[in-house]
Amino acid sequence: MAEELIISTSTDKQERYATLIPQIQSLIEGEPDTIANLSNIAAALKQSMNFFWVGFYLVKNNELVLGPFQGPIACTRIQLGKGVCGTSWKEKKVILVPDVEKFPGHIACSSASQSEIVLPAFKNGEVALVLDLDSDKLDDFDGVDEKELGKVMRLIEKFL
Ligand code: SME
Repeated sequence: MAEELIISTSTDKQERYATLIPQIQSLIEGEPDTIANLSNIAAALKQSMNFFWVGFYLVKNNELVLGPFQGPIACTRIQLGKGVCGTSWKEKKVILVPDVEKFPGHIACSSASQSEIVLPAFKNGEVALVLDLDSDKLDDFDGVDEKELGKVMRLIEKFL
């Protein structure tokens, strides 16, 4: 396992993801523990992409419960269909929110958060967890994030 993360200095996020994703793959290789892997993935995403908040919510007893994250403290439990995370879980799809003020029911864990993307990971066809990324800038996520973070979700599904 790499001990130090190599961080691309490119201003092009596609390039930063291209440097990061193979390292995420080697970070989790041979490690079966879910919490250990999610913790390192959250840290690697935060360090290389400099998101305001990066973290996981895990489906436990029919609610989302806060898992490994990097950033300010956050709400611990989210119900099915509530907020961006609960909507991603309910609809089993990626939700991209350019302006959180315009998303009905958005849960504001931090007033600094302005845009958000949430991606689900599946186990046996059901959502097992979601990855939530928050930015303190409006309209900070796009199709590049969706595609590249989708690759991270598929890596996560290998150890779920
Ligand atoms: N904004 C999220 C809640 C989680 S925090 O952003 C960390 C939502 O609406 O589901």
